[in-house]
Amino acid sequence: MKRFELLANTMADEIRSGSRPVGSRMPSVRQLTTQHGVSQSTVFRAYYQLEEWGLIRARERSGYYVAPGAALKQEAAPRAPLAVESAKVEISDLVFSVLEAARHIDVVPLGSAFPSPQLFPLQRLAKSLGHSSRLISPWSTVVDLPPGNEALRRQISLRYLGMGIAQPMDELVVTNGALEALNLCLMAVTRPGDVVAIESPGFYAALQAIERLDLRAVEIPVDPESGVDLQALQEAFERHPIKACWFMTSFQNPTGAGMPQDRKQALVDLLAEHDVPLIEDDVYGELHHAATHPLPAKAFDTKGLVMHCSSFSKTLAPGYRIGWVAAGRFAQKVQRLKLMTTLSASIPAQAAIADYLQHGGYDKHLRKLRGAFRTQLAAMDAALRRYLPDGTHWTLPSGGYFLWLQLPPQVDAMQLHRLAIESGIGIAPGPIFSARHEFRHHVRLNFGHPWSDGMESAVKTLGSLIGQASS
Ligand SMILES: Cc1ncc(COP(=O)(O)O)c(C=O)c1O
Repeated sequence: MKRFELLANTMADEIRSGSRPVGSRMPSVRQLTTQHGVSQSTVFRAYYQLEEWGLIRARERSGYYVAPGAALKQEAAPRAPLAVESAKVEISDLVFSVLEAARHIDVVPLGSAFPSPQLFPLQRLAKSLGHSSRLISPWSTVVDLPPGNEALRRQISLRYLGMGIAQPMDELVVTNGALEALNLCLMAVTRPGDVVAIESPGFYAALQAIERLDLRAVEIPVDPESGVDLQALQEAFERHPIKACWFMTSFQNPTGAGMPQDRKQALVDLLAEHDVPLIEDDVYGELHHAATHPLPAKAFDTKGLVMHCSSFSKTLAPGYRIGWVAAGRFAQKVQRLKLMTTLSASIPAQAAIADYLQHGGYDKHLRKLRGAFRTQLAAMDAALRRYLPDGTHWTLPSGGYFLWLQLPPQVDAMQLHRLAIESGIGIAPGPIFSARHEFRHHVRLNFGHPWSDGMESAVKTLGSLIGQASS
């Protein structure tokens, strides 16, 4: 997408969402050139585009104003055009600098990717580790090599059965966390230069993997309520030789979006029609706030095209680094790649988690954890309502522990991130979730930590920083 199209789309979103009310004056050309680091002609082209869409009108000698009825043009206005070219991704420096800034233990972890370790049954897990490691056979260093510890794979396969999915154990490969599973899957189905469809906004590790493997990305828009835009995906298949998709279909990071079941089925049908594999990242699937587990896209896969990746990092044992992939027809390839890269996941950690799943009360723990996230989300929502200025919007997710905040249009997320860090508060700014550094007016907030006075005052400070930046 060209720069003027990006700018036009950002402003169109702001108008349609009501952040820029009908009749309000659009920023001056000079303001936009400074704010977005673009030339005057880019800004003019963006304004001509918005005018063409009927979203703004020029008033002589006075500038551009939001046109009457613009907010209603949501349906009629064209969706953001898909990129004609797939993009080379250069994201790592930005991601590392943001993550590094938020790493200090004293920083309020609103930008963190992890929930609070206090919420995990670490003592009970230590008991399983002690017990199982005493029983480990000297031969387990050979027997538990990929695909991995048999007792663990049996327990994982039973959890699939609990969702009504018959998951053969020999298609399960145990990995060092979900991140390794995702990376191995990507390596299994692509070669340098290939095009991969990813979400926009999407998990930055997908962008980093694409960058590292020298692939190209086509970004598919994600709606914060219904997930990946299937029509855009269909168009992308027509335009690009897509070799794989990497999507989160439940409680997406960063938006919290979940695809309704019929759309997951439609997604799997579309993939089957084009014979394209899906790398399904489902690390938050167990963290549903409602009573039932949403089915993953894997549940609808009859062709072995879906590689379903998950882990215990977000639900039970962050430091154990145990994840897995149900790799369908790619299982053998993934297993070999695992052997060739890191050989095996830790043998004692695999045995400990297998023992815990069998005897430790995982389901009871998960019920408690989900309850904690529901309570923390309510507290976060109440605090946001109390302290954030008008013009800030968010959607409540139905699972996971992330909330995607849309800032007033004058507020730049990177600038807000810098100010927040100076006040000892971490936030995850929108541009780290985009190959083209979009979402400059969004941030991801973490509500995975028990509510406290420190969190309350961090949200209050954030509210005043946003207020100052938008006035
Ligand atoms: C969406 C998503 N996928 C995968 C991972 C990595 O999971 P793991 O820690 O199990 O490697 C994370 C961690 O932040 C994540 O947010």
